Amino acid sequence: MVSTPHSVPRFRHAVVTGGAGFLGSHLCTALLESGSEVTCVDDFCTGRRENVAHLADRPGFTLIEADICHPFDVEAGASGASAPPDLVLNFASPASPADYLRMPLHTLETGSAGTRNALALARRYGARFVHASTSEAYGDPQEHPQSERYWGHVNPVGPRSVYDEAKRFGEALTAAEARSRGANVGIVRLFNTYGPRMRGYDGRAVPTFVRQALAGEELTVTGDGRQTRSLAYVDDTVRGVLAMAGSELLGPVNIGNPDEITMQHLAELVIELTGSSSGLRFIERPSDDPAVRCPDITLARGKLQWEPTVPAREGLERTIAWFRGQAAG
Ligand SMILES: NC(=O)c1ccc[n+]([C@@H]2O[C@H](COP(=O)([O-])OP(=O)(O)OC[C@H]3O[C@@H](n4cnc5c(N)ncnc54)[C@H](O)[C@@H]3O)[C@@H](O)[C@H]2O)c1
Repeated sequence: MVSTPHSVPRFRHAVVTGGAGFLGSHLCTALLESGSEVTCVDDFCTGRRENVAHLADRPGFTLIEADICHPFDVEAGASGASAPPDLVLNFASPASPADYLRMPLHTLETGSAGTRNALALARRYGARFVHASTSEAYGDPQEHPQSERYWGHVNPVGPRSVYDEAKRFGEALTAAEARSRGANVGIVRLFNTYGPRMRGYDGRAVPTFVRQALAGEELTVTGDGRQTRSLAYVDDTVRGVLAMAGSELLGPVNIGNPDEITMQHLAELVIELTGSSSGLRFIERPSDDPAVRCPDITLARGKLQWEPTVPAREGLERTIAWFRGQAAG
């Protein structure tokens, strides 16, 4: 199956944990538009009701407020869906460093007990399960670009370990579910993704720079600005995740945009595209902040026929337009 925007795999009923978050809400939208019923499960620790407000009245959409650290169910009736789930996308987790540093224990619980409960849900209904892991599983990498064969370089007790190790544990749990029970599960390692519905104060580079540029404030670049990230526009990431959902691959499979950009260049591009007169201010770099990040997407290209198609300029323009719309109320 070629994963174009027009060939989203068809599911009867998809459950999206963390569905009221940035990525989750785009996944819920894409799945509903492809004809699936969708149940969004979220505890709103970082997600927002307005992210799924546009779906609230759509037939087939159900929102359940629940913390997946406790066992949960979405049986027909409770969820409003007419069919049992045939897909579970496990996207619940604080994801920005500001969020997981503020909620270290909840992040560890969500990645461990929460993933176990989401896997149990998939097992109960025989649904395909896809776990959202992260490029943070590679830590501060000593191999560049990072391929799925690289095992990573993670500080297991540093401040970021609450996220990195929870995600690595979630991967181990998912892989064990496949080995010990023959379950139909998959792992995607998502690299930095940006787009509409990110929170201006979530601490991640794109929403921070866009917010600052639109407000005429200095853009705060950490370190000397030469550290790199590779940024995928949300539509590309959603297409990659759904291609993984439609496959039977275990993975892990990297989903990200291999076009690398330095933080300083990103800040300058945001200033140019917003037409802002803001300058740059260099601030201290957080501990364990990786110096480089770039996915090797050979596997996704070969096995999922997926690759990103939205260039940084275009994705940033769409994101900036959304932030302007929010500011205009
Ligand atoms: N956005 C990225 O660049 C990126 C990169 C790598 C991995 N990911 C992964 O993708 C997923 C979504 O990330 P995002 O950027 O949309 O973040 P987000 O914070 O916008 O969304 C996370 C959602 O999960 C919900 N949540 C958290 N803990 C929960 C719990 N215990 N029970 C129920 N709901 C809970 C939050 O309320 C929120 O709606 C996360 O698992 C994250 O680790 C994202």
